[in-house]
Amino acid sequence: MSLTVVANRVPIRRSDDGEWAPSVGGLTTALLPVLRQRGGAWIGMGEDPDLPERQLFPAADPDFTVRRVPLSQDELDGYYYGMANRVLWPVSHYMIQHFEPNPDFMEIYRSVNKRFADAVVEEVAEDDQQIWLQDYHLMLAPQHIRKARPDATLGHFWHIPWPAMEVFRILPWARELLRGMLHCDLVGVHVEEYVDNFLESARVLLGAEIEGQTIHYEGHTTRVEAHPIGIEVERFKQMAASDEVTGKAARLRERLGTEYIVIGIDRLDYTKGVLSRLEAFERFLEDNPEYHGSVSFYQIATPSRTQVDSYQQLKREVDEVVGRINGQFARDNWVPVNYRYRTYTQFELCAFYRAADAALITPLRDGMNVVTQEFITATENGALILSELTGAAYLLPEAIQVNPYDRDGLAASIRMALEMDEEERTTRLQGLKSTVEKLDVQRWARGFLDSLQQQGQ
Ligand code: G6P
Repeated sequence: MSLTVVANRVPIRRSDDGEWAPSVGGLTTALLPVLRQRGGAWIGMGEDPDLPERQLFPAADPDFTVRRVPLSQDELDGYYYGMANRVLWPVSHYMIQHFEPNPDFMEIYRSVNKRFADAVVEEVAEDDQQIWLQDYHLMLAPQHIRKARPDATLGHFWHIPWPAMEVFRILPWARELLRGMLHCDLVGVHVEEYVDNFLESARVLLGAEIEGQTIHYEGHTTRVEAHPIGIEVERFKQMAASDEVTGKAARLRERLGTEYIVIGIDRLDYTKGVLSRLEAFERFLEDNPEYHGSVSFYQIATPSRTQVDSYQQLKREVDEVVGRINGQFARDNWVPVNYRYRTYTQFELCAFYRAADAALITPLRDGMNVVTQEFITATENGALILSELTGAAYLLPEAIQVNPYDRDGLAASIRMALEMDEEERTTRLQGLKSTVEKLDVQRWARGFLDSLQQQGQ
């Protein structure tokens, strides 16, 4: 049975030599092998009017169709920059200070979701197709697809937190959005806590009947399951052990010249807790003068959603805090915070993971956080400080878990990570590695699709 994947972004990009190649990212990695084997289509937004609406991939010997839904600037502004990034993203991450409930965003989101659904219906010829939608960009598409293809098997994976019902209901369109998703046969989220939140939202806001993990609503049945996503463990292992990466890691340590390196790696997003983390590092330096000169904190922030005001504002604030810390503490050849605002390749990131004594992964909220899994896979003896407000924290009890809003606790955890004895470090890391091995991304895709097939029967 062929598969149709529907996601905000298409899975291919044009490389510097002009050739089309798969884009880097967990979802692409997980789903391209399935599409290659089964055939089908991947439907995503088209931002560039010069690109074709339909494209076979790979061109020489096609396995599947890439279909773009061309969006005008107004559509992009309302659906993506507006509804997805200024409404659904902040509310799902419990950061309602960034929430902008503009009804125009919702109006455009409705019509763009309909356009996605129309494209799906065009691609899906037979009723026995599996259709797999991804994420918060596409909550309303399922209802339109269901209407046109009543017998199709429809799944939706939600990659960010599903918030507590009382937070979700802040959305003025909470019921409409939820109803849209209940046309699916299977809804997947990362952890059980999000399953509970979803079920509770359906029960309270729609009066749906809940039976175990199944929702009965207006004659349709939707099962809600936790399928924690993983990474490509084998590839990361090989990359981390390669000469290129170990060489880069050694050069980085030499260049920084400090006994300890602590890293932070994120998209520059207010959910990632970069500011609070920097402030915690500042507190650590205040509290522990004996570490001055011997610890480098290396923060990589990848530019993201740069057209959204709150992201621009965050960039300014991070620049300021980095300047303040370095201005106060730097001396001789030691710069306490090394900050880079740019995109790195996976090889380069792997070198950072490999060089680090500790990783500070402290989002204020995160659906899963796969950087955590990359670090665990790549490091040989690093310590992991992990925010308890991430999906990953539920799965990784061996991490040093912290509340990212607790500056003193976070500062103390940095010291704990650096001073942890070898035996404890090794025991914790073994536990972490064995969990991450099991969370492989291919397994995630298979697990979801197997369950989707069962729901469709
Ligand atoms: C999160 C979301 C994804 C999204 C990614 C990057 O991980 O769950 O759906 O694609 O962030 O954000 P962007 O807005 O650049 O696609």
